[in-house]
Amino acid sequence: MNKIGSILGLSIATMVVALPASADNDPKKVAIKARQGEMSIRVFNAGPLFAMSKGDMPYDAQLAEKLANNLKVLLSLDNGRAWMPGTSTDEYANDTKALPKIWEKDSKIGDAAKKYKEAVTALAGDAGKGLDALKAKAKDLGEACKGCHDDFRKKEKN
Ligand code: HEC
Repeated sequence: MNKIGSILGLSIATMVVALPASADNDPKKVAIKARQGEMSIRVFNAGPLFAMSKGDMPYDAQLAEKLANNLKVLLSLDNGRAWMPGTSTDEYANDTKALPKIWEKDSKIGDAAKKYKEAVTALAGDAGKGLDALKAKAKDLGEACKGCHDDFRKKEKN
Protein backbone atom coordinates (compact mmCIF):
# COMPACT_ATOMS: atom_id res chain seq x y z
CA MET A 1 0.00 0.00 0.00
CA ASN A 2 1.39 3.43 -0.88
CA LYS A 3 1.35 6.26 1.58
CA ILE A 4 -1.95 7.81 0.46
CA GLY A 5 -3.51 4.36 0.37
CA SER A 6 -2.49 3.69 3.90
CA ILE A 7 -3.77 7.07 5.03
CA LEU A 8 -7.12 6.40 3.34
CA GLY A 9 -7.16 2.87 4.68
CA LEU A 10 -6.65 4.22 8.12
CA SER A 11 -9.39 6.82 7.82
CA ILE A 12 -11.88 4.32 6.44
CA ALA A 13 -11.07 1.98 9.30
CA THR A 14 -11.65 4.86 11.72
CA MET A 15 -15.00 5.66 10.11
CA VAL A 16 -16.16 2.08 10.29
CA VAL A 17 -15.46 2.09 13.99
CA ALA A 18 -16.90 5.56 14.59
CA LEU A 19 -20.15 5.29 12.62
CA PRO A 20 -22.21 2.93 14.77
CA ALA A 21 -21.31 4.84 17.90
CA SER A 22 -22.30 8.24 16.48
CA ALA A 23 -25.44 7.61 14.50
CA ASP A 24 -26.90 4.11 14.72
CA ASN A 25 -26.99 1.58 11.90
CA ASP A 26 -30.50 2.49 10.79
CA PRO A 27 -30.14 4.50 7.55
CA LYS A 28 -33.35 6.35 8.34
CA LYS A 29 -31.98 7.56 11.66
CA VAL A 30 -28.78 8.58 9.91
CA ALA A 31 -30.91 10.60 7.46
CA ILE A 32 -32.83 12.28 10.31
CA LYS A 33 -29.55 13.22 12.00
CA ALA A 34 -28.21 14.61 8.73
CA ARG A 35 -31.16 16.93 8.13
CA GLN A 36 -31.15 18.08 11.75
CA GLY A 37 -27.42 18.71 11.36
CA GLU A 38 -28.09 20.84 8.31
CA MET A 39 -30.69 22.80 10.28
CA SER A 40 -28.13 23.35 13.05
CA ILE A 41 -25.72 24.82 10.53
CA ARG A 42 -28.51 27.06 9.27
CA VAL A 43 -29.19 28.49 12.71
CA PHE A 44 -25.45 28.74 13.43
CA ASN A 45 -25.10 31.07 10.46
CA ALA A 46 -28.47 32.81 10.57
CA GLY A 47 -28.38 33.44 14.33
CA PRO A 48 -25.82 36.28 14.25
CA LEU A 49 -27.60 37.81 11.24
CA PHE A 50 -30.85 37.96 13.23
CA ALA A 51 -28.92 39.31 16.25
CA MET A 52 -27.33 42.07 14.15
CA SER A 53 -30.63 43.09 12.63
CA LYS A 54 -32.27 43.28 16.07
CA GLY A 55 -29.41 45.35 17.45
CA ASP A 56 -28.32 42.60 19.85
CA MET A 57 -24.94 42.50 18.14
CA PRO A 58 -23.02 45.23 16.31
CA TYR A 59 -23.38 45.18 12.54
CA ASP A 60 -20.28 43.79 10.86
CA ALA A 61 -20.48 43.92 7.07
CA GLN A 62 -17.78 41.34 6.44
CA LEU A 63 -19.20 38.84 8.89
CA ALA A 64 -22.75 39.40 7.64
CA GLU A 65 -21.67 38.77 4.07
CA LYS A 66 -19.78 35.64 5.04
CA LEU A 67 -22.63 34.12 7.05
CA ALA A 68 -25.20 34.89 4.37
CA ASN A 69 -22.94 33.34 1.80
CA ASN A 70 -22.55 30.24 3.96
CA LEU A 71 -26.34 29.84 3.91
CA LYS A 72 -26.24 30.09 0.15
CA VAL A 73 -23.46 27.53 -0.17
CA LEU A 74 -25.40 25.21 2.10
CA LEU A 75 -28.34 25.45 -0.29
CA SER A 76 -26.13 24.21 -3.11
CA LEU A 77 -25.91 20.78 -1.48
CA ASP A 78 -28.44 18.28 -2.73
CA ASN A 79 -29.38 16.66 0.55
CA GLY A 80 -32.70 15.26 -0.63
CA ARG A 81 -31.75 11.82 0.72
CA ALA A 82 -31.99 13.26 4.21
CA TRP A 83 -35.75 13.57 3.66
CA MET A 84 -36.41 9.96 2.74
CA PRO A 85 -39.96 8.68 3.14
CA GLY A 86 -40.71 6.78 6.32
CA THR A 87 -38.79 9.21 8.56
CA SER A 88 -41.61 11.32 10.00
CA THR A 89 -42.95 11.61 13.53
CA ASP A 90 -45.28 8.71 12.64
CA GLU A 91 -42.37 6.28 12.41
CA TYR A 92 -39.73 8.01 14.56
CA ALA A 93 -41.63 9.91 17.24
CA ASN A 94 -38.61 10.04 19.55
CA ASP A 95 -36.09 11.13 16.96
CA THR A 96 -37.71 13.70 14.72
CA LYS A 97 -40.14 16.61 14.60
CA ALA A 98 -40.70 16.29 10.85
CA LEU A 99 -44.47 15.96 10.34
CA PRO A 100 -45.90 13.29 8.00
CA LYS A 101 -47.58 15.97 5.87
CA ILE A 102 -44.13 16.75 4.42
CA TRP A 103 -44.43 13.54 2.40
CA GLU A 104 -48.10 13.79 1.44
CA LYS A 105 -48.82 13.74 -2.24
CA ASP A 106 -50.01 17.34 -2.44
CA SER A 107 -47.43 18.56 0.07
CA LYS A 108 -46.67 22.27 -0.02
CA ILE A 109 -43.20 21.88 1.42
CA GLY A 110 -41.72 22.61 -2.00
CA ASP A 111 -43.27 26.10 -1.85
CA ALA A 112 -41.77 26.69 1.59
CA ALA A 113 -38.37 25.51 0.36
CA LYS A 114 -38.63 27.83 -2.63
CA LYS A 115 -39.46 30.80 -0.42
CA TYR A 116 -36.45 29.97 1.71
CA LYS A 117 -34.18 29.73 -1.30
CA GLU A 118 -35.35 33.13 -2.56
CA ALA A 119 -34.83 34.68 0.88
CA VAL A 120 -31.29 33.28 1.14
CA THR A 121 -30.38 34.41 -2.35
CA ALA A 122 -31.62 37.95 -1.70
CA LEU A 123 -29.85 38.04 1.66
CA ALA A 124 -26.55 36.84 0.23
CA GLY A 125 -26.65 39.72 -2.24
CA ASP A 126 -27.38 42.41 0.36
CA ALA A 127 -26.12 41.36 3.79
CA GLY A 128 -22.82 43.21 3.42
CA LYS A 129 -24.41 46.41 2.12
CA GLY A 130 -25.31 48.03 5.41
CA LEU A 131 -27.53 47.39 8.40
CA ASP A 132 -30.76 48.56 6.74
CA ALA A 133 -30.24 46.23 3.78
CA LEU A 134 -29.48 43.35 6.12
CA LYS A 135 -32.54 44.08 8.27
CA ALA A 136 -34.96 43.89 5.36
CA LYS A 137 -33.55 40.65 4.02
CA ALA A 138 -33.07 38.99 7.42
CA LYS A 139 -36.74 39.64 8.15
CA ASP A 140 -37.75 37.73 5.01
CA LEU A 141 -35.34 34.96 5.96
CA GLY A 142 -36.79 34.65 9.46
CA GLU A 143 -40.27 34.47 8.02
CA ALA A 144 -39.17 31.73 5.61
CA CYS A 145 -37.70 29.63 8.44
CA LYS A 146 -40.72 30.18 10.66
CA GLY A 147 -43.25 29.62 7.91
CA CYS A 148 -41.90 26.16 7.23
CA HIS A 149 -41.51 25.27 10.89
CA ASP A 150 -45.09 26.38 11.64
CA ASP A 151 -46.47 24.11 8.95
CA PHE A 152 -44.15 21.13 8.87
CA ARG A 153 -42.37 20.81 12.21
CA LYS A 154 -44.01 19.43 15.31
CA LYS A 155 -44.46 22.06 18.00
CA GLU A 156 -42.56 21.82 21.26
CA LYS A 157 -44.74 20.36 24.00
CA ASN A 158 -47.07 23.04 25.30
C1 HEC B 1 -38.76 24.03 4.03
C2 HEC B 1 -38.86 23.82 5.46
C3 HEC B 1 -37.86 24.42 6.41
C4 HEC B 1 -37.16 25.59 6.30
C5 HEC B 1 -37.23 26.65 5.20
C6 HEC B 1 -36.34 25.69 7.49
N1 HEC B 1 -36.54 24.60 8.29
FE1 HEC B 1 -35.60 24.23 10.06
N2 HEC B 1 -36.63 22.47 10.23
C7 HEC B 1 -37.56 21.99 9.33
C8 HEC B 1 -38.04 20.69 9.78
C9 HEC B 1 -39.08 19.83 9.08
C10 HEC B 1 -37.38 20.41 10.99
C11 HEC B 1 -37.50 19.13 11.83
C12 HEC B 1 -36.43 18.15 11.37
C13 HEC B 1 -36.41 16.86 12.15
O1 HEC B 1 -36.61 16.89 13.38
O2 HEC B 1 -36.17 15.80 11.54
C14 HEC B 1 -36.50 21.55 11.24
C15 HEC B 1 -35.65 21.67 12.34
C16 HEC B 1 -34.86 22.77 12.63
C17 HEC B 1 -34.02 22.89 13.80
C18 HEC B 1 -33.85 21.84 14.91
C19 HEC B 1 -32.72 20.88 14.47
C20 HEC B 1 -32.50 19.74 15.46
O3 HEC B 1 -31.36 19.55 15.88
O4 HEC B 1 -33.46 19.03 15.77
C21 HEC B 1 -33.40 24.11 13.71
C22 HEC B 1 -32.39 24.71 14.69
C23 HEC B 1 -33.86 24.75 12.50
N3 HEC B 1 -34.76 23.89 11.86
C24 HEC B 1 -33.45 25.99 12.07
C25 HEC B 1 -33.85 26.58 10.87
C26 HEC B 1 -33.45 27.91 10.45
C27 HEC B 1 -32.60 28.88 11.27
C28 HEC B 1 -34.01 28.12 9.23
C29 HEC B 1 -33.91 29.33 8.36
C30 HEC B 1 -32.62 29.99 8.25
C31 HEC B 1 -34.76 26.92 8.90
N4 HEC B 1 -34.64 26.02 9.91
C32 HEC B 1 -35.49 26.76 7.73
C33 HEC B 1 -37.97 22.61 8.18
C34 HEC B 1 -37.47 23.80 7.68
